[in-house]
Amino acid sequence: MSLSLTDATGAPCLTLVPFAVSDRERAVQLRWLDGATALPSPAALANALHAIVTDARASHIYLIETRVVTHDADRDAALTTSRASLTRAALTALGFVHDGGRDEFRLALDSDAVTAWLTPLVARDPFHWSALAPAGELTFERAARAMHDASLGDPASSPDEDAAAALREFLADASFTNDPMGVQVGTLDGVDAAFVMTQVNPSTGWSRITYLGVAPTHRRRGLGAVAHARGVALARTLGGRLYIGGTSTANTPMRALFRRLGAAPFRAMERWALALDSTA
Ligand SMILES: CC(C)(COP(=O)(O)OP(=O)(O)OC[C@H]1O[C@@H](n2cnc3c(N)ncnc32)[C@H](O)[C@@H]1OP(=O)(O)O)[C@@H](O)C(=O)NCCC(=O)NCCS
Repeated sequence: MSLSLTDATGAPCLTLVPFAVSDRERAVQLRWLDGATALPSPAALANALHAIVTDARASHIYLIETRVVTHDADRDAALTTSRASLTRAALTALGFVHDGGRDEFRLALDSDAVTAWLTPLVARDPFHWSALAPAGELTFERAARAMHDASLGDPASSPDEDAAAALREFLADASFTNDPMGVQVGTLDGVDAAFVMTQVNPSTGWSRITYLGVAPTHRRRGLGAVAHARGVALARTLGGRLYIGGTSTANTPMRALFRRLGAAPFRAMERWALALDSTA
């Protein structure tokens, strides 16, 4: 059930779109209308969020999360600030708590800066990379295992997560290419030590490193930077024009990898979450 809100003149300005994160978790996306400069009333926003929480409770959801954008290079800063203040107040009143954040970075893949960053990292890449295609050297199960091991310690994932299910879901995402060439495992001395998955949206050229990680035993030797470069190089190979990537503000090593790219975040957001009574 998505809910559309209007400003005082009746013009649409915001749509709230709930979607499933898992069986028991739901997220709500706040889609502010491009070009709209006015806000919905605090009461209208509170009512809409309340309806979403009520529906989630009835559906035995135990966690609802949403994001509040605090900086967006493409939008007016004052408007972003007033939208954020309005949203925070409504979320706080409903019992949501601010729980970390996320920074996003954006780079034109054909820029000289990307080439200058990429070239030395590719030159010192010690991995033997295997892709799901074309030779089929890498099996799906091995890729999922490498993805699981590489995700250990990621503040945004848990060791119990089903990596095979996540990988299957990523490959099935209709907005992106599901080229098996984009799923790669890096082997070092016969050990699967890095995982990278890159996908491209063929209509916009927007590419993402869907997942990236280095196995815990191989970290802090500069291999994360090499794997990051592999993901970006893959984005170019797969026809990507723009790379947009992001990470949790709690992920210190991944933030360091983005810093190395020399780009400031173009978008920053806060994560807000509401835990519901799981026995309800
Ligand atoms: C993020 C990750 C790939 C980095 O791998 P890595 O092999 O340790 O990376 P590097 O050795 O190339 O180090 C990269 C930078 O992070 C810093 N760093 C690495 N681990 C760190 C830690 N635990 N605390 C603080 N800084 C750290 C390094 O000092 C280096 O910084 P520098 O560029 O300023 O020198 C790895 O930590 C990982 O796989 N984490 C789990 C998966 C994950 O979180 N993926 C990202 C999801 S968005």
